[in-house]
Amino acid sequence: MSQPSLSKPTFEHHHSGLGLDCARPRISWRFTWPQQAAPPSAWSQTRYEIEVLLDGDHSANVFKVESSQSVLVPWPTAALLPQQSATVRVRCFGGRESDDHEGSTEWSESAQVETALLKPDLWKAQFITSASRSHPPTGPLRPLRFRKTFDLPASGSKVLKARLYITALGVFDVYVDGVRATDELLAPGWTSYKHRLTYRTMNVTSLLQKSTGKHALCVEVAEGWYCGRLGFLGGQRYLYGHTMALLAQLEVTLDNGEAEPLRICSDDTWRCADSAIERSEFYDGETYDARQEWNWNSALASQDDRWRGTRKISWPETKLVCPQMPPVRVTETLQPKEIFKTPSGKTIVDFGQNMVGKVLIKSMRVPKNHTVTLRHAEVMEHDELGTRPLRQAQAEDTYISSGEECKDWTPAFTFHGFRYVQIDGWEPTESEIAAVVMSSDMPRRGWFSCSNSWVNKLHENVLWSMRGNFLSIPTDCPQRDERLGWTGDIQVFAPSACFLYDTTSFLSSWLEDVMAEQLEEGKGGIPPLVVPIIPLGNWPHMPQAVWDDVTVLTPMDVFSYSGDTAILERQLPSMQAWLDEAIDRGEDGLWTRDRWQLADWLDPGAPPEDPGASRTDNVLVADAYLIHVTRTMATVCSQLGRTELAQKYTADSERLRSHFQHKYITPAGYLMSNTQTGLALAIHFDLYPSTTQLAVAAKELATQVQSAKFHISTGFAGTPIISHALTETHQTQLAYRMLLETTCPSWLYPIRMGATTIWERWNSMLEDGSVNPGEMTSFNHYALGSVADWLHKTVGGISPAEPGWRVIRVRPVPGGNLTHAAVSFEGPYGLVSCSWKLTSKAGPVQDGSSSSAAAESYAFEMELTVPPNSSAVVTLPSELKRSLSDSGEETQTVVKSGRHVFTCEWEPAPWPPKALLSADLRPGQPTIADGPLEVWKPSR
Ligand code: BGC
Repeated sequence: MSQPSLSKPTFEHHHSGLGLDCARPRISWRFTWPQQAAPPSAWSQTRYEIEVLLDGDHSANVFKVESSQSVLVPWPTAALLPQQSATVRVRCFGGRESDDHEGSTEWSESAQVETALLKPDLWKAQFITSASRSHPPTGPLRPLRFRKTFDLPASGSKVLKARLYITALGVFDVYVDGVRATDELLAPGWTSYKHRLTYRTMNVTSLLQKSTGKHALCVEVAEGWYCGRLGFLGGQRYLYGHTMALLAQLEVTLDNGEAEPLRICSDDTWRCADSAIERSEFYDGETYDARQEWNWNSALASQDDRWRGTRKISWPETKLVCPQMPPVRVTETLQPKEIFKTPSGKTIVDFGQNMVGKVLIKSMRVPKNHTVTLRHAEVMEHDELGTRPLRQAQAEDTYISSGEECKDWTPAFTFHGFRYVQIDGWEPTESEIAAVVMSSDMPRRGWFSCSNSWVNKLHENVLWSMRGNFLSIPTDCPQRDERLGWTGDIQVFAPSACFLYDTTSFLSSWLEDVMAEQLEEGKGGIPPLVVPIIPLGNWPHMPQAVWDDVTVLTPMDVFSYSGDTAILERQLPSMQAWLDEAIDRGEDGLWTRDRWQLADWLDPGAPPEDPGASRTDNVLVADAYLIHVTRTMATVCSQLGRTELAQKYTADSERLRSHFQHKYITPAGYLMSNTQTGLALAIHFDLYPSTTQLAVAAKELATQVQSAKFHISTGFAGTPIISHALTETHQTQLAYRMLLETTCPSWLYPIRMGATTIWERWNSMLEDGSVNPGEMTSFNHYALGSVADWLHKTVGGISPAEPGWRVIRVRPVPGGNLTHAAVSFEGPYGLVSCSWKLTSKAGPVQDGSSSSAAAESYAFEMELTVPPNSSAVVTLPSELKRSLSDSGEETQTVVKSGRHVFTCEWEPAPWPPKALLSADLRPGQPTIADGPLEVWKPSR
C-alpha cells in the first residue's frame, strides 16, 4: 500500500466536536490502514489540505499548507462565530522520504465542529429553582422536576436545527417530549464550581421532528456534588450552596426565514415539582417511590396538581465553560455471576467483578407498597456483605413499588463501588437483574498482554480501577465516604492512565481546577490535597510533596502523551506558584525537615492504623521528588521556548541535587534511608554523584529486594518507580521476580486472593480472607497499579521518545518466566504495536513455564508496527547493557513507518534470582506466579 488513509479529523481534544469553547479549534488526524495489512513503508507527510465548509456558506474553501504536522494544526481560516458549525475534511500528500514521488491520500471522512455560546451575553436563560422551597434544609435534598411546554408551528415549517444549552446546580437528566436527550449521566459532572461550571451543548434536532405543535422540555435535578454530602467523618452538605437550580436554553431554527431562532429559556414561567425520587445521594444512595410517579415529562398534558412555580436565582459567581472531556456514560453491562444466600439468610448477587456503577432492575413484580433495598459492597466479610470499609457511606438504593411491574429501573443520580449487592424484599433470577458500569467515556487506546496469565489479570485489574476512578474527576476510590480528587493518587498513576485511555481532555480539565484553587488569594500557591477542594476534617492547608507535585508532573505526563504545549503553557502559573512560592524550604532550598510529609504513604510496613508511618524518611522522599520536579520544570520551560527560565530551573535542580547528596548520600554511596523506596527514588531521579556511588546504590537496592524475599516494601512514592529503578540499573530480573511474587505484600498477592481491581493496601484482604482491620481499606484504588507503566514501557517495550509519540522508543526487556508480550497504543499518529516472543534454542518454550527460563539462550523475535509520519528508535535485548560497569553504548536502530521484524539472540541473566535469607525455604514463601492462574476461594 502506498498511501495511508486518514481518520475523521478531531478538534482540540474535544470528544465529539459539538460545543467547543474555542473559535479557532486546532485540527488533528491519525493515519490508518487495513487491519491485517502493514502501514505504508517510511511514509511521511509533506503537506496537507483542509477543506472547510462553514455553516451558511454555499461552497467550501480548501486551504493548502506546506507542513509535516498532522497533530493540532492551526485552524486555517477566520475564527468561528458563536454557535457556528463547519464541516471539515483533510487530505495529505507524502510518500517515502527517499523517493521524490509524492502521492495524495484520499480525503478523510468529514467531521462536524460547532462552537458553543462563546460569549456570556448570549445566555438569555436564567437560573431557576423551586419557588416553594425556601427554608435552609437540613438533610439530603429531594430532587426537583422542571417542566416547560411550548409550541412549534404545527405545519409548514421544518425544524432545521435545535440546540439545547444546559447546566444545573446539582446533577441533571433532560427529556424532550419524554425522550432522554442524552446518554450522559451525572451531568454536568464535578468541577471546582466556584471557578468553573460546565454546560452542555446538545443536538436535539431529531427529537423535535414530530411537529405536533405541543412540546415539553423537562429536566430533573438532584443534589449531586453541588449540595450533597462530601467527605469523611460525616462530611459536609451544601458545600457550594443549598439551592438546586437549572439553566436551560433551547434554540430552534425553523425554515421559516426568521433570522433569530425560537428560544425556550429557563425563567419563572417554568413549572417545578418534587420528584418521585425521594432522595438521591452519592454516598448513601437513592430512594425511588414508584407510587408517586406520574406522567411528568411527556408532551401530553401533565395536569397533575403537584406542579408549582419557579423563581429566578442570581447568576452564580462562576465562569460557565463548555468542556472538552467525554461525558460519564454506561460503558458496559454485567450479568450476575451467582446469586446466593448468606448464613443469616440474606440474598446476595455477585457480579463477579468489582466495579463502579449501579444496579439495573430489568423486571420485577412485587406488591404495592413493598420496599426493595439494594445494599452494595466490594467484598464479603465473615460470609456476610462486607460494608465496614464503606465507613459512613450507606450505599443503599431503595425502590418502593406501586404494584405495577418495575421495568428497566436504575437509580438516576448516584453511583456505588461494588461487586456484591444484598437484596432485601425481592428474590431476583439472574435474568431479572444486571449491573451497569459507569465511567467518563474516554477512548481506550492502550493494550498489554503477555504469556503469564497472572500478570494479565493484574493489568486487567488496573484497567478496572482506572474505569471506576475516572468518573468526572480522578478519584482515590469510588465506594466509601471519600471519592475525592486526591492529587497524589493521580500524580503516581497518570503515566499508566495516559497509556490506557485518552485522558488528555479529562486530566487537562481537572488540572485547570487544580490551578484555579491553588491560585486563589491567600492560598500561598499551595494546591488543595483534594481537587475540587472539600474540608478534610482537621487537615491543615499545608504543602505536601508527591501530592502537590501533581501541579508539575501531571501536565508533563499529559504533554508526553499528547504533545500539546498549550496545556503546559496554560498550567505554567500553577507550576511556578508551586515551585517558587509554596514549597516550605529550609536554608539549602530543600524541604524543611520540620514538616511532616505523606511521602511513601501506605508502606506495607506501616501499621494499619497509621498508614503514614513509612520506613523511608519522609523528607528524603519529598526532597528527591523536589529535584525531579524542578528538573521537569526546566524541561517544561524549554519546551515552551523560555530559555532563561529553563536555565534557572536547571541550575536550581543541580544545586538542590548537590545539597541532597551532601545531606543523604555517604561518600561511599550509601543512602540515609536504605529502603526500597529511598534507593529507588535516588536511582530513578538520578541523584547519585558518580557511577561508583550509583553502583553501591544499585547493589543496596538488590539487597533490599532480595532480603525482603522479593516482597514489595514501597508505598505511594516508591511503587511507581521501583521496577524502573531496577531496570535502569540492569537488574531487570529482580523487577520481574518482584512482579511475579504471589505472597503478601506483592502485586500478585491480591490476584491470588481473587481481586478484580487494584486494592488500596497490599493486604486489603488478609490471607485468611478477612478484611484488613484498617480504616483505610478500599478494594478499588489505582495508585498501587502504577506498575502498569513499567509493563507498558519495559515488558511490552514502547513509550514516547519525544512528547506526543512522533518518535517512539522501543526497548523491551524480556525477563522472568515470560515467553512473549504484546503491547499496542492508538497514538496521535496511528496504531503503534510491538510484540515479541522467545524461542528456546533447546526447543520451543512452553508458555508460562518457569522452567523455560532455565534455558540459556533464546531466539528473540519482535514485530513492530510504526504508523506513518512517525519513527521509532529501537534497542534490541541483545544490545542492552548488562551492568552499570558495562561501558559500551546501547546500539539503537531508527526505523520509519511500516511493519518491521527484528530478531536477535537473548541470554537472560540467571532466573530465578535468589533471596538473601535462608528463610525463603520456609513453606509458602516466596512463590513465583507460574502456570495457570489459581485463585483463593472463600468456602461457602
Ligand atoms: C485516600 C488516599 C489519599 C490519602 C492521603 C486517603 O484517604 O484514599 O488515596 O491519597 O488519603 O492522605
